[in-house]
Amino acid sequence: MYGFITEKKRTHYCGDLTTSQIGEEVILMGWSHRRRDLGNLIFVDLRDREGMVQIVFNPEVNPELHKEAHRIRNEFVLAVKGKVQPRPDDMVNTSLKTGAIEVAVDEMEILNESKTPPFHIDDEAEVSSNLLLTYRYLDLRRKNLLNNMMLRSRVAIETRNYLQKEGFIEVETPFLTKSTPEGARDYLVPSRLNPGMFYALPQSPQLFKQLLMVSGFDKYFQIVKCFRDEDLRADRQPEFTQIDMEMSFITENDIISTVEGMMAHIFEAGMGTPLVTPFLRLTYDEAIARYGKDNPDTRFDLELRDVTEVIGTSEFRVFQETIGSGGIVKAIRVQDGKRLSRKDLDGLGDFVGTYGAKGILWARVNEDGWTSPIAKFLSAQEIEGINETMAAKEGDTILFVAGSPGIVNDSLGNLRGFLAKKLDLIKEHSFEFTWITEFPMFEYSETEERFMANHHPFTAPLPEDIPVLQTDPGSVRARAYDLVLNGSEIGGGSIRIHKSDIQSKVFEVLGLGEEERRTKFGFLLDALEYGTPPHGGIAFGLDRIIMIMTGAESIRDVIAFPKTQKASCLLTGAPSSIDLDQLAELSLNNPR
Ligand code: AMO
Repeated sequence: MYGFITEKKRTHYCGDLTTSQIGEEVILMGWSHRRRDLGNLIFVDLRDREGMVQIVFNPEVNPELHKEAHRIRNEFVLAVKGKVQPRPDDMVNTSLKTGAIEVAVDEMEILNESKTPPFHIDDEAEVSSNLLLTYRYLDLRRKNLLNNMMLRSRVAIETRNYLQKEGFIEVETPFLTKSTPEGARDYLVPSRLNPGMFYALPQSPQLFKQLLMVSGFDKYFQIVKCFRDEDLRADRQPEFTQIDMEMSFITENDIISTVEGMMAHIFEAGMGTPLVTPFLRLTYDEAIARYGKDNPDTRFDLELRDVTEVIGTSEFRVFQETIGSGGIVKAIRVQDGKRLSRKDLDGLGDFVGTYGAKGILWARVNEDGWTSPIAKFLSAQEIEGINETMAAKEGDTILFVAGSPGIVNDSLGNLRGFLAKKLDLIKEHSFEFTWITEFPMFEYSETEERFMANHHPFTAPLPEDIPVLQTDPGSVRARAYDLVLNGSEIGGGSIRIHKSDIQSKVFEVLGLGEEERRTKFGFLLDALEYGTPPHGGIAFGLDRIIMIMTGAESIRDVIAFPKTQKASCLLTGAPSSIDLDQLAELSLNNPR
């Protein structure tokens, strides 16, 4: 039924043809991207995974075939045989890789027809995202998405290659399991055989990878789906993929150097980008002090400086009141500050307002002093002190925010990113990695009136902070680390607690009673009693890494079949209601 194709095989991908095939006979198979009738000649752009090439039907070569070519419509599937020839000089298309050649068709078979697609398969086409998601299989024919998926595949394969070489064992862990402690809501699966009981889909393989260390596997990894029922954002999906790792008999530095080697390998092998290692390391406190955030974008400067002390004596009411109520004043220096007009400066006040700041104060640094609404309230000494702290030069503009430390860091931290985009300070195609270490171990929850684990409850405290674990939990630092790339958290992990006495103390701080510990993590606590080695690990968001590599704006552009903001799949119609019989079978038919 395939005519000549049953006899012969495809010789090339459309996109792989070059001028070196001129004169050769080739067999191509692909989709008709566009057909153009030009006088007598019919041109079709034939497209496959690797690209596009122009094919030509000439009535003088084969009148029958030329007639048949009139039937071709967009997205028909074709097999063609023909000779590669140079295009006439005035027909060369320099924007197409194969634009210097074309294939003169002498045999063709229409392998399948296509309905008129709901949108043209074109990278530039502006189509509603709902329509694109409903016909995702057509959208995936677009070059951009296809390239993203190809890069994703290379990165996954190179991750495996690297980790295998480093002695890691890939182990699959269960999806039908018990709740894992990553802090989001679980997706639950009812158990038919155990009426009224539920499995939880894993938020991560955290507990299982620790068990594998107890088993002596030494180095584990898995490229694995994780499920979290949380509010979705541009870099969050309800099911996403982790590169998950765990190692025994190691310290933070071993994990950090293994990861740096892995990143260097996947960036080089995946996209030919060499990385400079070791990566920058900042403690959590340094990151907050200098960037206002624990996921700083280090591709540009605009660092925060604390001027609280310098203006401590100031008579300016805003500064006095802020400092008097335990607040701080921090500032950033914008070089060539005239790029921010007065109108821009007013707008920045609104910007920081969304982070809770009361407003922004500014000063333009001139040769003979400041132009600033606050200059008259400050002494020459204070102005000099600020200039010194900010390393300010003539032409700079200094931007101040006063308030509680949380608000000041949050607003200036976000303002950095906003200004960097506005002033075009971000180097394109640069990849800046930063490790953030020594996170606070606990966070106090005002609503729950208790300390919560910042990471998860198996994270080890810094040895020097153990003595104050129970007396001053708020000051305890964790042996936890995040890896940040271009301002985005791409991974996080920790050294784990491997001794039960420390684990008990941490549970006490968290207010987790004996019964709750047993119900939630009994199996892990039991395992920890059987010779658990010191161990630690990390997990990376593969989707986020690919997003940054490709420059994609949305995580959906790097996932073959993603979900919408409302966690639904427009292609399959999931989630959907199920019939009463199925509900009954799962013992879910009793409304409470
Ligand atoms: P964590 O919860 O920090 O750590 O997750 C690790 C990384 O996974 C990515 N990530 C996500 N990506 C897309 N959509 C989401 N909803 C989403 N949630 C998280 C982020 C994040 O840095 N078990 C620990 C790791 C460990 O301690 O070893 C864990 O899961 O890039």
